[in-house]
Amino acid sequence: MTKMLNGRVALVTGGRGGAGRAICERFEAEGAHVYAADLRESGSLDSDATSGTFIRLDVTSEDEVVAAMNTVREEHGVLDVLVNAAGIEVEATVEETSLEQFNHIMAINVTGTFLTSKYALPLLRNSVNPSIINFGSYDGFIADPGLAAYCATKGAVHALTKAMACDHGPEGIRVNAICPGYVDTPMLGQFFQGADEEAVRAEAAAIHPLRTIGTPTDMANLVNWLASDEARYASGQLWVLDGGLSAQVQQMRL
Ligand SMILES: NC(=O)c1ccc[n+]([C@@H]2O[C@H](COP(=O)([O-])OP(=O)(O)OC[C@H]3O[C@@H](n4cnc5c(N)ncnc54)[C@H](O)[C@@H]3O)[C@@H](O)[C@H]2O)c1
Repeated sequence: MTKMLNGRVALVTGGRGGAGRAICERFEAEGAHVYAADLRESGSLDSDATSGTFIRLDVTSEDEVVAAMNTVREEHGVLDVLVNAAGIEVEATVEETSLEQFNHIMAINVTGTFLTSKYALPLLRNSVNPSIINFGSYDGFIADPGLAAYCATKGAVHALTKAMACDHGPEGIRVNAICPGYVDTPMLGQFFQGADEEAVRAEAAAIHPLRTIGTPTDMANLVNWLASDEARYASGQLWVLDGGLSAQVQQMRL
C-alpha cells in the first residue's frame, strides 16, 4: 500500500506528549521525516520511547522557533507539515487564575502557535502540499467549568486557524485545527487528578454518545489525513473529534 506521507517533512510541537508522540509515530509509519519538538526529550509521558528526531524547543521563544526552522531548512530545505500540538491547561476560574498563569498559557497555546506558523511559512512555500494543523479543542466552542483561560486560548487558536487559512489559501497552504474532546493523555490525567481514577474514567466514558473517551491514535488518524494529499480540498476548518460529546444537550438521566 502507498504510504500517505512518503518523503514529506513534518515538525510536531509537543511531539513528545500524549497526542504529539502518536502523531510522530504515525507520520513516520507513513514515510515522513519527522521532527518531534518539545521541551524535554522524554516529554509529558516521561518515556524513553523515541519517535521522530528530537528538537529541543520552547514554543514561546522566538529565537528557539527560528533556530528550529533553520535546522529544518539546513537539513531538508522544505517543510510539508507543521503540527502545533504543544499545550498546557490551567484548572481555574478567571478569579482563581493569576495574571502570570494567564499570560503563560496564552504564551504556549496561542503565541506558540503564532510563532511556529510565522517562521514555518517560508519553508512551507517550498512544499507540494503544505499544511498547518493546530490543536484547538471542543473547549473553544463550549466551556468546561473551571478551565477559563484554557477555553480562551482554544477559542483564539480556532480564530487564528481560520485567519491563516484565508491569508495563505491563495498560495496553496492549507490550515486546519483539530478539536478533541476527552483524550487519554497526561493532560487528561492531570484533569482527573485527585479523583478515584477508575470511577472517574467510567463516568467520563458514560457521558459520551459513543460511551468511550478518545485515544492519541484517534487524534493521529485525523491529523494524518489532514496532512495527506487526500485532504487537498480541506482548509480553514475546525474538526471536532469528541465521540459525539458536543453534539448532545444535557439531559435528565431517567
Ligand atoms: N488530552 C485532552 O483531553 C485534550 C483535549 C483537547 C485538546 N487537547 C490539546 O491537545 C494538545 C496535546 O495535548 P496532550 O493531551 O497530548 O497533552 P500532553 O500534556 O501529553 O502533551 C503536551 C506536550 O506539550 C509540551 N509543551 C508544553 N509546553 C511547551 C512549550 N512551551 N514548548 C514546547 N512544548 C511544550 C509538553 O512538554 C508535552 O509533551 C494540546 O494542545 C491540548 O490542549 C488535549
